[in-house]
Amino acid sequence: MTDGCGRTIDYLRLSVTDRCNYRCRYCMPEEGVCKREHREMLTLEELAEVAAACVGCGVRKIRLTGGEPLVRRGIVELCRQLRAIPDLRELCLTTNGSLLPDLAAPLRAAGVDRLNISLDTLRPERFAQMTRLGQLSDVLEGIRAAEDAGFRDLKFDTVLIGGFNDDEIADFAALTRDHPWEMRFIELMPMGPCADWDRACFLSADTVLERLPELEQIESSGVARRYRLPGAAGTIGLISPVSHDFCADCRRIRVTADGKLKGCLHSAEELPLRGLHGAELEDAIRRGIAQKPARHHLSERKSDTPRNMNQIGG
Ligand code: 5AD
Ligand code: SF4
Repeated sequence: MTDGCGRTIDYLRLSVTDRCNYRCRYCMPEEGVCKREHREMLTLEELAEVAAACVGCGVRKIRLTGGEPLVRRGIVELCRQLRAIPDLRELCLTTNGSLLPDLAAPLRAAGVDRLNISLDTLRPERFAQMTRLGQLSDVLEGIRAAEDAGFRDLKFDTVLIGGFNDDEIADFAALTRDHPWEMRFIELMPMGPCADWDRACFLSADTVLERLPELEQIESSGVARRYRLPGAAGTIGLISPVSHDFCADCRRIRVTADGKLKGCLHSAEELPLRGLHGAELEDAIRRGIAQKPARHHLSERKSDTPRNMNQIGG
């Protein structure tokens, strides 16, 4: 359906947990999630019901997010259920990759169409320092498992952080020479733990164009401006929510793991869906879509949401 600004809304980002096995410094506090009880979270049945209701309201693509979606027990079965929703065209999942060694093949068998893997650095010590609990080798093994399971056109999401990984832009880009991957650079958004970080951490994605003048522009895809190194197998994507906001083209709604519909990642407005069923549930979703905010205000101030990213799902 279309929202109050005439935008077609056909993409749901559904968070299945606020928990994560990592504690990336910009995303989560060291002590982890401010413990929301398990019983505050939607059950697998409720997640499937909300997903089906959103498809009933015009959603055609669902991306499962977290926290880390693969720490949610029953995730494979949930994927199988969602894939069986008749009008759903695409089921995707965004993961930190660490649990793919065990889960890539079952997820593929359950019908997941595409994976995005978050990867902020290619250097093992930096990776451990940024994720606080993670090891790069697990993710590299996860990537191999994903390819072995038949996930082709993998996309990688790198949050650009000045002074942390901007010296790796060329290294990430070089991976596209031989791999048919899309390496995407995402601007760091000022919310949660990173909201008050030094201004120098917040780089425009255009930094990538300055560092790699040989990039050739190709057609955009969704919110990503896309480029290719001459002759490369893969592509490079720039996602610039701060410097070039894409609100006018936004097709998304979000549902948090505790069952709140969010029209905009950066708005404090939330609409509780829990306890609603059937026509009541669809009515609430339609209301949420109709009221989707026109835009965010990241170019003027930090995010209005009181949530950390792990409590929304990016
Ligand atoms: N700005 C941009 N991206 C973020 N992510 C988490 N926090 C932020 C932020 N403040 C990203 C993660 C992952 C996805 C779920 O969201 O790195 O790629
Ligand atoms: Fe976990 Fe992703 Fe947040 Fe890192 S960015 S702590 S991997 S949810």
